Amino acid sequence: MIPWGGVGGWRSDRALRLPLPVGLRIPDSPRPVSWFYRNVARPVLFAQDSECIHDRTLRALARVSQCRTLCRAISGWLDVPPLPVRCLGLDFPNPVGLAAGMDKGAVAVPAWEALGFGFSELGGVTLHAQPGNPQPRLFRAPAEAALINRMGFNNPGAATLATRLAEWHARGLWPRHPVGVNLGKSKSTPLGDAASDYAGSFRQLWDLADFFVVNVSSPNTPNLRQLQDRGALDEILAAMQSVNEELAARPGCGGPKPILVKVAPDLSYEALDDVVSLVRPRRLAGLVATNTTLARPSTHDPVAQIVYRETGGLSGSPLAARSTGVVRHLFKQLRGAVPIIGVGGITSVDDAWEKVTAGASLVQVYSALVYEGPGLPAELVAGMRERLGGARWSEVVGSEAR
Ligand SMILES: Cc1cc2nc3c(=O)[nH]c(=O)nc-3n(C[C@H](O)[C@H](O)[C@H](O)COP(=O)(O)O)c2cc1C
Repeated sequence: MIPWGGVGGWRSDRALRLPLPVGLRIPDSPRPVSWFYRNVARPVLFAQDSECIHDRTLRALARVSQCRTLCRAISGWLDVPPLPVRCLGLDFPNPVGLAAGMDKGAVAVPAWEALGFGFSELGGVTLHAQPGNPQPRLFRAPAEAALINRMGFNNPGAATLATRLAEWHARGLWPRHPVGVNLGKSKSTPLGDAASDYAGSFRQLWDLADFFVVNVSSPNTPNLRQLQDRGALDEILAAMQSVNEELAARPGCGGPKPILVKVAPDLSYEALDDVVSLVRPRRLAGLVATNTTLARPSTHDPVAQIVYRETGGLSGSPLAARSTGVVRHLFKQLRGAVPIIGVGGITSVDDAWEKVTAGASLVQVYSALVYEGPGLPAELVAGMRERLGGARWSEVVGSEAR
């Protein structure tokens, strides 16, 4: 969800400037689009209901997605520099991706490329369509640049998602960047049947995306995180790999699809090591670290104190340090054997660079898009390109974790 509206409150530091009249502010951002978003658009958007504005924004992006010329114009205007990365057997134009949960129904697939993302992760999608939890289910803590959500996998179901993806393909609007799908478990499916639920979605979507992420780490589906236990996860991955082998064996299918597992930031290092122990036997292509956290950091901000009492997963700035710690631990344990996608609290080039040097080959953002706006991918890519200098990407990944 893009929670532009809902809870009020502002912080006046570097990231969130006070919404004073435009003329009183000196734009220090290199990108006018970010300056405009932070100082003009965001105050207007934040005055409205969160989920409603998210839906409106997605509808607008869905309309943009219908028009190739408009997508090209936006892409040219944002002017994201190239920073190619080869990973998961795929070519990424840059390492900054859209995190799962923003476009659960794949309604704006071409728009994410137009905004400059180097890849996008659609979904989470479940085998059966479901409405998610009752509203309100999304809350902002602007002073902390944080969100709390308990969406509960609201999504149109794997069959509908497959139809939409097939349409984007058929109409020639499929993006040139890699597209992944995030798979969750249907709420109505008992935990014991989770493997067939995940494998069922995977089968329906196999032909239509470049990689798949098994999400066993959302805090908003009852008991889902128990599926991170070694035995349960092993069963899910075995079922998925058997579908993978079967479908990849068809003529012209070009080999098995990369399967990654997304972990929670609340797992102990021992539990993370259990997940790592499945990487080789279950031929995992990579890990995604991390999902939202159940933890609540202390805060002096009165609005955040109220918001933090809500049930759900916390994302955004307060998650950054823990999520980077998980990336670093996984990188050390894996010794760079498979790539890690680092996600959690990336708001600035510094945050993104920290994830990369801790071991992330690719990064993703969700909450910061809400707070920093559509210029964010371009800012992150340009900043990381500058940091990279003449070094190779592979030399930098994990350089602070070795
Ligand atoms: C409203 C919302 C919905 C989300 N839905 C999903 C989801 O369906 N599947 C998933 O794996 N992660 C989901 N996430 C987690 C994000 O993909 C990401 O891991 C998390 O927000 C941390 O990144 P951030 O700090 O950049 O937001 C969701 C996050 C938010 C805020």
